Amino acid sequence: MPIERLSTGVGELDRMLAGGIPRGFFVAVTGEPGTGKTILCIHFIAQGIREGDRCIYVTTEESRDSIIVQASQFGFDFSESIREKKLIIIDALMGVKEEWSLQSLDVEELVDRVIEAKKALGYGRGRLVIDSMSAFWLDKPAMSRRHSYFVKKVLSKWDFTTLMTSQYAITTSEAFGWGVEHIADGIIRFRRSVRGGTLRRYILVEKMRHTPHSLQMYEIDIVQGRGIVIKGAIEMRREDVALPRHVMEKIRKSTEMRDVEAP
Ligand SMILES: Nc1ncnc2c1ncn2[C@@H]1O[C@H](COP(=O)(O)OP(=O)(O)O)[C@@H](O)[C@H]1O
Ligand SMILES: [Mg+2]
Repeated sequence: MPIERLSTGVGELDRMLAGGIPRGFFVAVTGEPGTGKTILCIHFIAQGIREGDRCIYVTTEESRDSIIVQASQFGFDFSESIREKKLIIIDALMGVKEEWSLQSLDVEELVDRVIEAKKALGYGRGRLVIDSMSAFWLDKPAMSRRHSYFVKKVLSKWDFTTLMTSQYAITTSEAFGWGVEHIADGIIRFRRSVRGGTLRRYILVEKMRHTPHSLQMYEIDIVQGRGIVIKGAIEMRREDVALPRHVMEKIRKSTEMRDVEAP
């Protein structure tokens, strides 16, 4: 049976994914701050709007207005899509009481609001972005696995293809985005390096079930008016992207702890 794949909105990334993301998948989008996670999410939603999908964007780190401004810089008019009832942006940052907001970073409130939003948009293929998922367990990282499993389980009946971003916080051992990766059907990882005094960004498909995906890391640009532009595949040495040694050690320790945690 052929697999239905959803375009990410970034043509070159679709080619890396043998056509796109399989319908119904939960995909973790991970990477350090400023590497392009939110911008990829914006492309994914803009493509959904183009294809007539029901689109929902949950934003925890930026306000709804900030997402709208960022999208407009790449030529996407999210305000119009909201007016036309093709898109709902659920704002979990501002904490104001209004129709589409979250009062707290609570996973049960999250899934309730997402389901209400899907009902409001109507039947049919849906696209969901949760940017970021790690915000929901910043103060209780041991719960990340349980919480992300809960979200996947409850939302899997609602015909979404989902991108969930997760942050690295290299200052604390607890705040890593573990959890999402464990339940993810796919992992798209952004990375960065500074070479010759210039910030460079990269993208790598680390996992995508049911997909003969590219195993190569590509350098990307973020371009005013266009968004993510994928440049050539690169050969990279480990030290180009490795985190500092003490951070790697913390990751190793928290991975061990996670592995003994009950499922
Ligand atoms: N209009 C723009 N033109 C070029 N680069 C931009 C533009 N808007 C944002 N960027 C770049 O994208 C970065 C933010 O990417 P973003 O996807 O928000 O990162 P994150 O991975 O933290 O979600 C900014 O730091 C900036 O370098
Ligand atoms: Mg972001």
